[in-house]
Formats: sequence, C-alpha cells, structure tokens
Amino acid sequence: MSSLNLAQARVLVVGAGLMGAGIAQVAAQAGHAVRLFDTREGAAEAAKAKLASTLDGLVAKGKLTAEAAAATLARITPVAALQSADLVIEAIVENLEVKRALFADLEALLPPQAVIATNTSSISVTALARGMQRPERLVGMHFFNPVPLMKLVEVVSGLGTAPEVAQAVFELAARWGKVPVHARSTPGFIVNRIARPFYAEALMLLQERAAAPELIDACLRSAGFRMGPCELMDLIGHDTNFAVTNSVFAANFFDRRFTPSLVQQELVDAGFLGRKSGRGFYRYPDGPPALPALSVAVPSAAQIVVHGQGAVADRFAAALPDAVRERDSDWTGLSVDGHQLRLTDGRRAAELAPGAAVFDLPLAASGDLAFAGDVATAAWLSVLGLTPRAMADVPGLVVARTIAMLINEAADAVSQGVCDEAGADAAMKLGVNYPAGPFEWLAGWDRRAVVALLDRLDQHHRGERYRVSAHLK
Ligand code: NAI
Repeated sequence: MSSLNLAQARVLVVGAGLMGAGIAQVAAQAGHAVRLFDTREGAAEAAKAKLASTLDGLVAKGKLTAEAAAATLARITPVAALQSADLVIEAIVENLEVKRALFADLEALLPPQAVIATNTSSISVTALARGMQRPERLVGMHFFNPVPLMKLVEVVSGLGTAPEVAQAVFELAARWGKVPVHARSTPGFIVNRIARPFYAEALMLLQERAAAPELIDACLRSAGFRMGPCELMDLIGHDTNFAVTNSVFAANFFDRRFTPSLVQQELVDAGFLGRKSGRGFYRYPDGPPALPALSVAVPSAAQIVVHGQGAVADRFAAALPDAVRERDSDWTGLSVDGHQLRLTDGRRAAELAPGAAVFDLPLAASGDLAFAGDVATAAWLSVLGLTPRAMADVPGLVVARTIAMLINEAADAVSQGVCDEAGADAAMKLGVNYPAGPFEWLAGWDRRAVVALLDRLDQHHRGERYRVSAHLK
C-alpha cells in the first residue's frame, strides 16, 4: 500500500467521448462518485444516457442486476463546469497545448494533493507536466478501447511524476479490476512501441514482394494472433496506423528502425484506408480471400534424419518414430534422402544445398506455415499437421521474423527502463491480445537462434532496422 490512497477518491472525468465515457463507467462501477465534464454541450449527458442503455442491455442478458446498474448510473453526475476532485482523469482531444491549458485550469481549482491522470496515447507525460505548478501530481493512466472490456492500464511516469502518485494510480487500477503495468514516458509507451514490428515486418514483406497479404495474415493467424497484420491495419485504418508510425518515428529522432512504409503511404495517398473506405489491402465487405485448399501428399523417402533439439525437433521425432535422431546437429529440422528441411535461422534456402527448403517457426499444432525453397521437400511439413505455403526466399520468412522483431523491440524497451519483462508480456497480451508475450516467446525459442536470425536479417538489409538489442546479446 502506498501512503497515498485513492480508493475513496471523488473522481472527475474530463472529456466524455469514446474513452472518457468508458472510464466514467469503470470508476462508477467500482463505487466512486464520478463527475463527468465535456466542453461540448450535452456531451456528458449523452454519454450517461448511452451508458444507461448499455447497462440495460447487460441487465436484460442477466449479466448485471438492475440494482447494480441503477447504482452505477446514480454515481455519475454530468457537470457543466470543471469541479474539484481527488482524482481527475483527462480524456480530451489529443493535443499538447489544449491538455496543458486544461491542467492549468484544474490546478487553480484542485487541492494540492489531488492527482491528475492523463489518458493520452501518444503525448509525452513529461512534456505535458511542463509549466504545471505541481508536475509531480501528473501521471499517465492509459486505458485501451473499449475501456470496460480491455484489462490493461499503462501507468506512465514522466520525469517529474512522484513515485507515490504512480503507485497510487497503479493500485487504484488494480482495484478497478484492471491489470496495471508501470511504464516510463517514452514514445509509444509500451504497447504502441513494441507492436510496431507487427505492422512493419508485414509491410517490409509486401515491399519485398515476398508474399501476398492474405498469406502473411493466414500464417500469423495460425501462429495464434486473432488477426493478421494486414487485416488489422485495414481495420484500424491506414491513415491512423500510418500517423502512429510517423509519430513514433519522429519522436525517436528519425531512428531508421521505425521508418514508415511506402506501401502504406501509397494506400493513404489513394484513399484506400481499409474497412472504413471499402478498400485497403482487401476489398470490403469481403475481406481477405481464403487461401486455396491444399492436400499435400508426403513423398516417399528411404532415409529420414531428425536434426537438432527442442520443441520442433521433438515434434518431428514424435511424428516419424522410425527416423534417426541427430541431436547434436547445429540446425533443426529433417533431412530426407539428404535434402534439408530446416527451421529458419535467417539463412535463405538458396544458401543451402540444392533440394533444400526452409520453414517458418511453427507455434501451433496445425494451420498454415510458410516455407521457401524446394516444394517436394517442404511437403514433409504436413507430417506435423501443418499446411505448407510457398513464399519468396527471404530471411526469417513471416512468423519467425515478426516474432524475433517483437522480441527485439521488447528487449530494447526493457534495456531502456521503459518497463520490465513481465510488464512487457502483460501489456502485449492484454493491450493488443497477443497470444503470448515477447519474453514468453523467447523462453520457448532459443536466445541464440533469435540473435542469429536478426543478425542475418541485418546483414541482408544493411540498415538500422534489424540491429540486435544489447539486452538480447
Ligand atoms: P473523443 O473525440 O471520442 O472524445 C474527446 C472528448 O473531449 C470530446 O467529447 C470533446 O468534446 C472533449 N473535449 C475536447 N476538448 C476538451 C476540453 N478542453 N475540455 C473538456 N472536454 C474537451 O476522443 P477519445 O477517442 O475518447 O480520446 C480521448 C483521449 O484518449 C485522447 O487523448 C486519445 O489519444 C486517448 N486515447 C484514445 C484511445 C482510442 O482508442 N480512441 C485509446 C487510448 C487513449
């Protein structure tokens, strides 16, 4: 318990839009008296009316008692002007000057011990606190949309934020049934930073003409992601996604690792913004075309050897009990009558002996898995229950490359003190529904293999993008 306790705080939510309305709901459901203010006339009342109908719906479905719904609603009071409170949560327009002006108005009104929490998704908390009389009372409280459903709250400390203020907001978020994670105020905080490669690697693959969007999406869906990156960018809107990428790029002093993509620039230029404009990577309402159904026949072979150790080698050994096992091999996969079928380590199939194929990191028991190289050799992937999908022979294929880059970005964030490893894992699972956290993937893979793969990507591309985090080495 920190000395500062917000459990009984009177809450003022400023901004009754998408996020503010959700935050007011969550605070009221946790028992707080909540005042809701918006400069747009009628907005706070409209937000409350909308909440009333949402709660009615939950009551009708039996998910909430009528009494609880009425009590929640009764705790929310739309107000026509800023008022005093113990905790203010700001969810107004994403603009530095407008937010600073609001904080000045609030400081004139609030008791000195009051806490101001900002829900900004992209502005530096350090910069927002500049000019405040009590910068130590400002902290980021970054909720995710939709607020009542998404568990993650990034508790963001700026340079001047008092640790007890961050801790009190952390404890409060936990009381509200959320999973708070401490973050240092750096561009993109945790989620929006670590997630960049999920989009960026797909865009690089498209730029390299290595695979079609539907293949990239299918492979990452098979790896456990709810949506592939291309369909997700179509959903978010290319204008929005491109703007976030540009702001992270600029905020990092144009570190080339975060370079936006010309592929996405073109979509924005064309007005192909995704679902909302009827066309992005895909046309809507149809969405991604299905990949062709494949039934792969496994060729016959005289001699099969399972190479390497670890989960993938074990899977091959279990599927092919008569195969010879060569555990000390320096690569993972099968050799079939001398032809290598290798788990990608960043090397391309063309760098191996003729007849070789490389395959992507299999994270699931079934589904689509990318390969490059010899089709007949790759057909052996079907003994694992996987459907081999041909793509161009580029280092790291789809899943391995994407996961390795997510791990790399998370490692950089940890090495820079943005968050700890557990925080990064929780943030990515709860903020963007990843099937696992970056450090969980790392634990199930092999640190040296990840570094080797990134090094090969780096050699192939010769830029800053694939430089390996010192934290990983
Ligand atoms: P919104 O546009 O739905 O709502 C903003 C509300 O603030 C509007 O009702 C507007 O009238 C009001 N407003 C503007 N200036 C004001 C002022 N000076 N005083 C009082 N009210 C004012 O926007 P949304 O999406 O709710 O975003 C709000 C904040 O939350 C932004 O900082 C945004 O970056 C952040 N955020 C948004 C997420 C999202 O998915 N939409 C996710 C996480 C954070």
